[in-house]
Amino acid sequence: MKRMSLGLLAGLCLIAAQHGPATAQSAAFGDGAGLALWAQIHEVFAHPRCSNCHVGEDHIPLWSGAHYGGDAARPHGMNIHAGVSRDGAETLPCATCHSTQNVDIPHGPPGAPHWALPPIEMQWAGRSSREICEQIKNPAKNGQRTLGDVADHVGHDALVLWGWNPGPGREPAPYSAAELVGFILRWDALGAPCPAE
Ligand code: HEC
Ligand code: HEC
Repeated sequence: MKRMSLGLLAGLCLIAAQHGPATAQSAAFGDGAGLALWAQIHEVFAHPRCSNCHVGEDHIPLWSGAHYGGDAARPHGMNIHAGVSRDGAETLPCATCHSTQNVDIPHGPPGAPHWALPPIEMQWAGRSSREICEQIKNPAKNGQRTLGDVADHVGHDALVLWGWNPGPGREPAPYSAAELVGFILRWDALGAPCPAE
């Protein structure tokens, strides 16, 4: 009796050994493809040309990168404070200096229509990949958008497109707007998995 159950156990172990890894592998592969797409999306979102506007509750845009004299993000020069309006309405409006297009002078203020910080719940600067991933899927935090709407925004919004045309000296965001749209749609189709951290 004891021997039989041991044999049965051994048999079950053998079946598990044969089938277990294959199942685990395909699950990991499915998530792996989605996570690889998220890594590319995150590479863009975390790039200074994007995250320097997607800042938090201090309402202060950031400067960073070689053009600004160093990689570390620091507060926008000249004591700029966007206020709760996020466009400086209560202080010095962004549009005082940032027009609807770039100026062709080194270190001149870049421009695109409606230059402003995004709503506070769209903060990316200082947040982990997982946090940004969870919030971009959350309609309460992404401007009531489906991921299809997020992709559409990325493909058409003037402030997003500025990230690939940032004016003289500034390093553009990686990939292209069209590639980012593709990443988001394919990531969505794979269930939009988020990384562990
Ligand atoms: C007094 C003029 C002035 C005002 C007002 C101003 N900016 Fe700027 N901003 C600049 C200049 C000049 C630069 C470019 C500096 C450089 O290239 O060295 C700049 C650059 C930037 C950048 C580019 C950072 C990057 O990553 O390349 C962002 C983002 C930005 N400003 C956001 C804002 C926001 C948001 C507001 C309103 C709350 C604002 N600015 C108000 C003058 C201004
Ligand atoms: C000049 C500031 C500025 C820059 C630079 C900027 N954004 Fe934004 N972003 C905004 C504002 C303002 C909104 C809010 C607009 C809305 O919701 O319709 C926003 C909203 C978004 C949203 C909507 C969903 C969400 O949860 O955030 C996405 C996606 C986005 N931006 C992507 C990008 C990407 C990608 C880049 C860089 C290639 C970028 N943005 C650069 C100002 C900026």
